[in-house]
Amino acid sequence: MKTDVEYLEFMWPMRHFLITCGDERKSNIIAVSFCMPVSKEPPLLACAIGRGTYSAKLIESTKEFIVNLPPEELKPKIYYCGFHSGYQVDKFKATGLTPQPARQVKAPIIGECVAHMECKVRQEIETGDKILFIGEVIEAYADEALVKGERKVEYAKGDFPKKIYATRFRRV
Ligand SMILES: Cc1cc2nc3c(=O)[nH]c(=O)nc-3n(C[C@H](O)[C@H](O)[C@H](O)COP(=O)(O)O)c2cc1C
Repeated sequence: MKTDVEYLEFMWPMRHFLITCGDERKSNIIAVSFCMPVSKEPPLLACAIGRGTYSAKLIESTKEFIVNLPPEELKPKIYYCGFHSGYQVDKFKATGLTPQPARQVKAPIIGECVAHMECKVRQEIETGDKILFIGEVIEAYADEALVKGERKVEYAKGDFPKKIYATRFRRV
């Protein structure tokens, strides 16, 4: 006996990332789970970011972004960044997260995150409601404690309100 399901339920666990974008003048943070490696050589990762988000607009303009890996205790701030838009609020100010200079990219890293991947956009693919940004990782660095295995980062199990990712199937 099989029953219809929400397909995304079975894609978890995933990481929750906080992507930073923009520049010294105006930067933003977006919570992103749809992010994965897509090439080892060159090192490429792909992030699906909603059309119409402030982040997509900034990334389309600067062609750069940073994938920051937040520790579990930042969960409330991850949710804040995932439920508010940079069009309305300054998420660094609202969350108290600390912007710090990145190595090569103009957007800041988030000081409280434990790993950072600075990316240059190599390709943009329009998918359904998202734009898939393929980024080449030009810098990757992490807290020593994470590298030594003294800190762990939890996987997110998709335990946020289901309405966010309710699938609209097109039966074909
Ligand atoms: C846990 C979590 C994960 C999310 N993952 C994604 C994602 O992978 N892609 C996406 O476009 N939006 C995702 N969102 C929603 C965006 O973070 C949300 O639309 C955000 O308000 C956009 O902000 P911006 O307009 O400042 O760019 C996620 C939200 C949460 C809470």
